[in-house]
Amino acid sequence: MDLRKVTRISSELLDKLVGLYERAYAEDLRYAEIGRRRIKRYLKWLLKHARGAFWVAFEGDEPVGFVALEELEPVPEIHEIVVSPEWRGKNLAEKLMQEALDYLSHRGFSRVALWVGEHNRRARHFYEKLGFQPREKAGVWLRMEKRLQGRESTSSRSTRQAVSASESERVSSGV
Ligand SMILES: CC(C)(COP(=O)(O)OP(=O)(O)OC[C@H]1O[C@@H](n2cnc3c(N)ncnc32)[C@H](O)[C@@H]1OP(=O)(O)O)[C@@H](O)C(=O)NCCC(=O)NCCS
Repeated sequence: MDLRKVTRISSELLDKLVGLYERAYAEDLRYAEIGRRRIKRYLKWLLKHARGAFWVAFEGDEPVGFVALEELEPVPEIHEIVVSPEWRGKNLAEKLMQEALDYLSHRGFSRVALWVGEHNRRARHFYEKLGFQPREKAGVWLRMEKRLQGRESTSSRSTRQAVSASESERVSSGV
């Protein structure tokens, strides 16, 4: 198993990610994009807005999870995290999320947010375990936020800009 930071997605990988997304949301479609075309468009949107902060977990050549964020100001957002059903409850989601949170800490952010379907109980429980707390609601969505450890005192745009491209291109492994 290894985690790879991806900046471009081949059409072969895109197809596999669509399949992964469909499997991950199959048991509860309430908060999911439906249809391969829409899912593809959504994945491309995620990739574009992530500007490199998009990690895919691979088992061999097969993607089994991914996480994507966006550096919104002042609070960045985790836009999506998905783990295939066979990999649930095995810490993979936590490793993907940790990668994203470490990245944001290094980029100088002191908080992170996300939106989750209010009745997506498994995801909500997962986020609560990691220290996310509920904030406001908008329709069927609940915003959750978490404070980040690390370089809080140096949180600034200039700190973020100072992080070198090579550091942000780091690839991790060992999941
Ligand atoms: C959200 C997701 C990435 C979390 O990964 P995961 O491997 O399932 O997460 P974990 O098993 O570490 O944590 C889930 C927790 O919820 C608990 N849980 C499972 N079903 C639950 C339910 N119906 N109600 C409440 N808690 C539930 C699990 O027991 C676990 O808690 P525990 O570790 O204290 O036992 C994964 O479930 C997923 O891909 N879901 C589909 C896509 C999705 O909803 N993404 C989130 C978008 S906001």
